[in-house]
Amino acid sequence: MPDSITSKEFIEQQYKPLNEELARLRELNETDGVPLILRETEGMLSVLLDICKPERILEIGTAYGYSAAFFAAKCPNALITTIERNPKMIEKAVKCFEMLGLDDRVELLEGDAAEILRGIGENADTTAYDLVFIDAGKTHYREYLELSERLCRAGSLIVCDNILIHGWIYDRKKPGAKRHRTSVKYMKSFLKYIKDREDLTVSVSESGDGLAIIRLNDK
Ligand SMILES: C[S@@+](CC[C@H](N)C(=O)[O-])C[C@H]1O[C@@H](n2cnc3c(N)ncnc32)[C@H](O)[C@@H]1O
Repeated sequence: MPDSITSKEFIEQQYKPLNEELARLRELNETDGVPLILRETEGMLSVLLDICKPERILEIGTAYGYSAAFFAAKCPNALITTIERNPKMIEKAVKCFEMLGLDDRVELLEGDAAEILRGIGENADTTAYDLVFIDAGKTHYREYLELSERLCRAGSLIVCDNILIHGWIYDRKKPGAKRHRTSVKYMKSFLKYIKDREDLTVSVSESGDGLAIIRLNDK
């Protein structure tokens, strides 16, 4: 045993997968190098889901479908809509939902998230989403928030992943920070935007790669 490990490593050690299927799916994502929610993020989402007991969940950014499958396992009565534009990811996610028997509860919408969200708005006769998970396109978070909040109600939660983008947002000297300065610029501006809005309750934490938990309050 080493004398010391990092706080992140220590926190990772506290993780317990929800079930065997999700543990295998996480392993497959990691082997294929596919981005998915970190263990710490999953823990935070787990508690949030237990508290808010969502019946309808909207996710932006499906990848292989890990987080959507996690939502479905955690909330057995919830309907989940998840959006993905990459055909390779879509193929894997479709197989994943079929394999886990989730295709009747998880709806995968294929295409660009902003376009799809606008389309959902046009057929506005839908029940509100109780929880939205934004996990795609760091430069589009404000757009995704504004488009998805129209589909929510007062009290809904909007959870945004990767808001610290590998620490680049607060440390310009970190390797990679320069190359990703556009994402950093947009994310900073998004964080200022949610901070300035009086109708939101916002928590910004270091959880995982940085998590913003937003509650929509009465306007
Ligand atoms: C971080 S991954 C999602 C991981 C997933 N939520 C999980 O934890 O298992 C982000 C995904 O968003 C998708 N994406 C990025 N921009 C998008 C857009 N404009 N419309 C739809 N999907 C997009 C990417 O193709 C990628 O698969």
